[in-house]
Amino acid sequence: MEGHTQTQTHTQKEKEKNSRSGPHTRLIDAMIEYEKGCPHRVGHFLKVYGYAKTIGELEGLEADERFVLETAALVHDIGIKPSLEKYGASDGSYQELEGPAAARATLEALGFDAPVVDRVCWLVGHHHSYADIDGRDHQILIEADFLVNIHEGEMGGTAIRSVRDKIFKTKAGRRFLETIYGHLLEG
Ligand SMILES: [Fe+2]
Repeated sequence: MEGHTQTQTHTQKEKEKNSRSGPHTRLIDAMIEYEKGCPHRVGHFLKVYGYAKTIGELEGLEADERFVLETAALVHDIGIKPSLEKYGASDGSYQELEGPAAARATLEALGFDAPVVDRVCWLVGHHHSYADIDGRDHQILIEADFLVNIHEGEMGGTAIRSVRDKIFKTKAGRRFLETIYGHLLEG
């Protein structure tokens, strides 16, 4: 009887915990710890996540696809830290090399399902590969990253126009780019 009560209590605690924090909240928590001492990278992944989530919903992606996209947005730059440690540089190619293993370790530790982990790791390993965009999750992840990087990298009008014309494909992503950076596009 006592054991039964303990089991019930344990289950209730689990339920309470799960109702307070979903998988992405727990992942944000883990990523803030991973990027401790680096407010720029914390701010960056939170901004990319916000754009990716919003574009994914506006573009009508299915729930499973949105879940993968949002997960990938949170960990897309996870390879920067190991790249800096190993090579002293964080070029896109190093990130794509180091990112997937770091993403897999983080997501598996949090109990994400294997198919989600596999696709997210692929996206992490290809988020600087603009020539072969494969899937709406990949397209939107890249657009969301650019929406943030244009500002953080202080890109000028010519570069922004080139990115818009060559890379942006979704209606919502293009609209956001033109709404947010319209004053620079004209210059
Ligand atoms: Fe990024």
